[in-house]
Amino acid sequence: MIEFRSVSHRYGDRPTLQDVTLRLVERRIGVIGPNGSGKSTLARLCNGLVKPTSGTVLAEGHDTTRETAAVRRVTGFVFQDPDTQILMPTVAEDLAFSLRPLRLPAAEVARRVDAQLEAFGLVDHRDHPAHLLSGGQKQLLAIAAVLMTDPAIVLFDEPTTLLDLRNKHRVMETIVGLSQQIVVVTHDLDLLDRFDRVILIDEGRVAADGAPGETVAFYRKLILG
Ligand SMILES: Nc1ncnc2c1ncn2[C@@H]1O[C@H](COP(=O)(O)OP(=O)(O)O)[C@@H](O)[C@H]1O
Ligand SMILES: [Mg+2]
Repeated sequence: MIEFRSVSHRYGDRPTLQDVTLRLVERRIGVIGPNGSGKSTLARLCNGLVKPTSGTVLAEGHDTTRETAAVRRVTGFVFQDPDTQILMPTVAEDLAFSLRPLRLPAAEVARRVDAQLEAFGLVDHRDHPAHLLSGGQKQLLAIAAVLMTDPAIVLFDEPTTLLDLRNKHRVMETIVGLSQQIVVVTHDLDLLDRFDRVILIDEGRVAADGAPGETVAFYRKLILG
């Protein structure tokens, strides 16, 4: 659960989000809106990558400004470009790397890595160089790596933007099937049907907020007239 209480944010004197109040309790939440409207800022506020200029953001009850360590433990963040997120040479090493902060015994690390390779259909790629995976497989690896530490909330900033149609569907299918709470910024409006709630951000404000069909229809009308 994420809560925004009268949150505003600015870069210098440029307002990016203005007086946003939201209680995000639904499991699958989409965020849509034009380029530059403040979507990435909103997503980054959720895990403290960006701090509010005024107001408060809480992730699972933890203040993102004052309780950064607790916030990082309960949230995961998946970026648009998996190449910025894959840190180790091979697929299995990259998954194991996520567990380093937990200081687990090697056998337990191996067990969790194996389970995750299985869950994400990456078993055959275990020892492959991660950079040789397809775009879709790389994004699945990035998601799998973020999930290794079992965050309660996972934030995604345009996770399907760089993918072809088949991989877009495959990755979104995986995201929608997660048991964690998910907040997904996306331009792929046709992939939002199974979301519980979709929020439209326009010029730094919440312009619409409701069921996917309603919010998407409002957005299309706003842009296309
Ligand atoms: N690091 C930054 N410094 C200054 N301005 C920024 C920075 N990041 C984003 N902005 C500006 O803030 C506004 C909102 O950006 P962003 O949240 O990235 O929008 P979106 O993800 O919807 O495209 C835009 O006008 C953008 O140019
Ligand atoms: Mg963005």
